[in-house]
This record gives sequence, C-alpha cells and structure tokens, in this order.
Amino acid sequence: MENLKKVLISEKIADEGLALLKKELEVDNRDGISRAELLEIIDQYDALIVRSVTKVDEELIKRGTHLKVVGRAGNGVDNIDVDVCTRYGVVVANTPDSNTISAAEQSISLLLSSIRNTAWANGFLKGGTWDRKPFRGVELYGKTVGIVGLGRIGSMVATRLKAFNMKVIAYDPYISDERFERYGAEKKESLEELLREADFITVHTPRNEETMHMIDEKMLEFAKDGVRIVNCARGGIIKEEAILKGLESGKIGSAGLDVYEEEPARNNPLFKYNNVVVTPHLGADTFEAQKRVGENIAEQVIMALRGEIVPNVVNLPTMLGEELEYLKPYIMLSEKMGSIYYQLVRNPISRVELIYSGPMTRNETEMLTVAFLKGLLHPVMDDKVNYVNAKLIAEERGLKIYERKEETSSRRYKNTIEARIFNHDSNLNLVGTLSRARQPLLVEINDYETENNLEGYILLVENEDRPRIIGPFATALGDHGVNIASMKVARKTKGDISIMLINVDNKVEDEVLKELEKLEGITAKPKLLHF
Ligand code: NAD
Ligand code: MLT
Repeated sequence: MENLKKVLISEKIADEGLALLKKELEVDNRDGISRAELLEIIDQYDALIVRSVTKVDEELIKRGTHLKVVGRAGNGVDNIDVDVCTRYGVVVANTPDSNTISAAEQSISLLLSSIRNTAWANGFLKGGTWDRKPFRGVELYGKTVGIVGLGRIGSMVATRLKAFNMKVIAYDPYISDERFERYGAEKKESLEELLREADFITVHTPRNEETMHMIDEKMLEFAKDGVRIVNCARGGIIKEEAILKGLESGKIGSAGLDVYEEEPARNNPLFKYNNVVVTPHLGADTFEAQKRVGENIAEQVIMALRGEIVPNVVNLPTMLGEELEYLKPYIMLSEKMGSIYYQLVRNPISRVELIYSGPMTRNETEMLTVAFLKGLLHPVMDDKVNYVNAKLIAEERGLKIYERKEETSSRRYKNTIEARIFNHDSNLNLVGTLSRARQPLLVEINDYETENNLEGYILLVENEDRPRIIGPFATALGDHGVNIASMKVARKTKGDISIMLINVDNKVEDEVLKELEKLEGITAKPKLLHF
C-alpha cells in the first residue's frame, strides 16, 4: 500500500474536516495532546493542525523534521512563530474568513448581555430570587460605539450595530478612508480621540507587540466614566490589570470578555465581578463556523502537501481568491522559466531582473517573483526550497532581485514575463507568456524568437544557419526512437548561428546528445530541458 502522508491534529476540529483529511492522509487526532508528547512525536508528521492553544515555536518546528505545513483552524496566528516557520520552509495556512460572522455575532452578544446584566440575572433567578433592582441596564439606541480595528470582524460589528441606531466611530490607522465610509464609521485619527467619544468600546485588532496592552490604565483615563467594553479579539489588547482597576473605580461600567491574557483562564480575578460577562473563547464556536473552518483547513493542508498553491498562506504574499485563480497559470509560467537557468548554465547567479508587462500587472505580482525563485533554486536545492522560503534563501545566497511592472508589453503578446539572469560573465534572457489555452509558453531565449510549450522535454540545439542541417538532425533523433512533438527554428541574422527548440516526447539520454553533437553543422552539444 502507498505510504500516506501523516497529519497530527492537536486541538479539536469539526468532523467534516476530519472526513476530508482521512480521504487522502493518515490522520492522528490527538485533541489536547501534552506539550511534552507533541515535542516527542512531531518528527513523524508532515502536517500539524492547531487552534489557538498549541504553541508553535522554534523548539517544535526544529523537531518537526518532516513538517511541511502548519494549519491554523481559525484566524489569529499569535500562537505560531510565523518567521520561524518561514525560515524552516514550513507553510502556515489559516482560515481567516470562516469564523468572521460567528466572532462578530459573539461580540454583539457579549455587548448586549453585559449591558443588560443578562448572565447575572439568569444566575439570580435560577437560584430562586425574583428581583429586578440590581439588573437595570442601558440602551444601545442613540449611543456611540468605538470600534478599534475595522477589519473583517470589526466591519461586521459596525454594520450590525448601525441597525441599533448607534453612531459608529472607528480607529484603524492601516485602512483607507474608503473603508470607513463603506461601513458607515466615522474615522478617528487616534485611539485617544475614540476613547473620549465612545460610550461602548469593542476591540478587533490582532494581538501583536503594537496592540498588546494598547488600552491600559493611562489610555482608559481618556474614556468616559462608566464606559462599557468588549474584547472578543485577543486577551490583553485591553490590559486586564487596567480592567480590574477600572471596575473597582467605576471607570468601567461593564465588560464582555471572550479572551484572556492567559488561556485556558481558570482563576482570573475578573470572574468575580457581576458586571463582567465571560465566555471561554467561544467567538468561533458555532456549528456553522466550525464546519467551515474544519473543511477549509483540511483542504488547505491537503493542497500544501500536494505542493499546490494554497489560498490562505500567512507566510506568502496575500491574494484574494479570484486574483489567485487568474494568476495561477502565470505563477506556473514564472516557476518554469526560473527552472531553465541551472539546466543550461552552472555559474552562480549575481542578479535577477524580472519585468512583468501587460494587464496582468494590475494584480499583485510578488507571488510571480517567489515562484520564479523557487523554480530557479530547485535544481540546486531540491525540496529544501518552496514558495514560503524561496525569497529568503535567494537573499541568503546574496542574489539581488529587481522587479519592474509595465502596463503594456512591447512585444506582440498581451502579457509577458521577462527574466534577465546575470552571472559574472554572461546573462540568460527569457521571455514567456501564456498560450491561448493558458499554458506556459516560452517566446524568447537570448533574443531568439520561438514558441515552445514549457512541458515535458525540450531540446535546445545550436547550429550553423545553412541547408542540410535540420533534416539529418531530425532523422538522427528518429533513429534513436525520439519523437518530435513540435519544433521551432530561430535566427537573428541570416548565415549566423541559429537555434532549434524541439519539444520531444521522451527523454534523450546523454550518449545520444553526444552523438547528436557530432552531426555536421551542429556547433555545441544539445541541451535537454525538462519541465
Ligand atoms: P483583520 O486582520 O481582518 O482585522 C484586523 C484590523 O485591525 C485590521 O483592519 C488592521 O488594520 C487593524 N489594526 C491592526 N493594528 C491596529 C492598531 N494598532 N490599531 C488599530 N487597528 C489596528 O482581523 P479579523 O479577522 O477582523 O480578526 C480580529 C481579531 O479577532 C483577531 O485578533 C482575531 O484573532 C480575533 N478573533 C477572535 C475570535 C474568537 O474566537 N474570539 C474569532 C476570530 C477572530
Ligand atoms: C480565531 O482566531 O480564529 C479564534 O481565536 C477562534 C479559534 O481559535 O477557534
């Protein structure tokens, strides 16, 4: 039986995701596995799937000697050292859109239940006491909500709170004014400004060095007395110590919390306050979101292990689904063009210039460069190079990479990729495009015009430009059982050296190449390219 690749799942994912994984991989479902055991067995696995608890750090990645992909079943990657993964060539993929709705709804649920004391009253009544006095709350109607981070979840919270007739203000220094307008949020230039105006504050940023404790005791001084807060993003964005002090002093009127500085949170001092509603990181815990997350991460892990381009790779340039679909054939073209150099030349490269021309440049082209470098380095580095680490490895090898975009191509093709690869004494120039069937096509090599599908085998032959060369060459190939699929002959000036680029159906052995070199008019040993 064929040896299946192995995936370890360290935190629960939905059955639908498991079912997909099991179709193609050997699945080890070890929800809640201890850190010690994880470190001990990780070297047996090609893939690891985690949620927010498993710490994926250098110690773990170093031990995962066969690890190719870490799948994050969810959104935030603050439990994963993405830089380390990149250095070790491990793909990190997440499911950023799959739980957005659930997290936005949970934020609103926490807001409503905290300002109406729902959980507190619930406990009271079930305990046998009918009383209304302690539970009087406030309305959302006509009040101002301040949203920190107007990304996927923040923007959904904005549109939903508009329906409550709230004024929405937001602080997010990294997005365009157009995005504030689209979600009906008034832009605030600083966090301080937002805090001064908001009756309710809800945070929706990632947790990182910049956002950790971004709302602390000092910041809270700017807030209105009795301000009500929600954190359904990541623990610590609003400093827990500051929340405690704010609750004690009355600066904070209520809090709705789903996330904590330390998780699992068991004896958190915030739990003792009646005006604090807490949930154990349930933002994404709906049947709908978990089904989407499970299926999505399973699909991506499978794609990554097949060596395919994965939609939500965190350590690669981001592309939207449609953009990726459009660019995929260009990514293949670029990678195949990159693979040509070391098949022809063995000299170390000093510089690579890549020129992207035509309407395709309206898209993000960084992925084309990554693919070119992967193709370029693969013949010398084998499987050690992949999409994730290609750029880093190229830089470490001292390769200078220059990229340029031109709106229109100066050639007769609509979209082209031109590569100029320099070593210490010469350079190789290549131009590629897509065929009508959107297949990779080489259209120029060192200023010789051609048109060859970049697939299977291509023979590159240099010969004198005179009669009785092509016929005997083709006959000799036939004598060795090599079938010609298509052939291009190109020259720059009449009578000069010309070239033949011949797509052949099978591999041409080295002895045959040596014999072909001896044919009259052939000026160098033919080179065989493989794609
Ligand atoms: P996103 O990347 O779509 O949006 C984050 C926004 O924060 C971006 O617009 C970004 O520009 C902004 N931002 C970054 N730094 C900022 C700063 N210093 N000040 C102001 N704005 C800043 O992310 P998202 O999908 O909306 O997720 C938001 C948060 O919710 C993340 O922390 C994520 O991990 C968390 N999350 C939690 C749950 C849960 O179960 N509780 C579920 C899903 C996501
Ligand atoms: C996320 O970032 O997606 C959330 O924290 C939810 C989760 O990890 O399940």
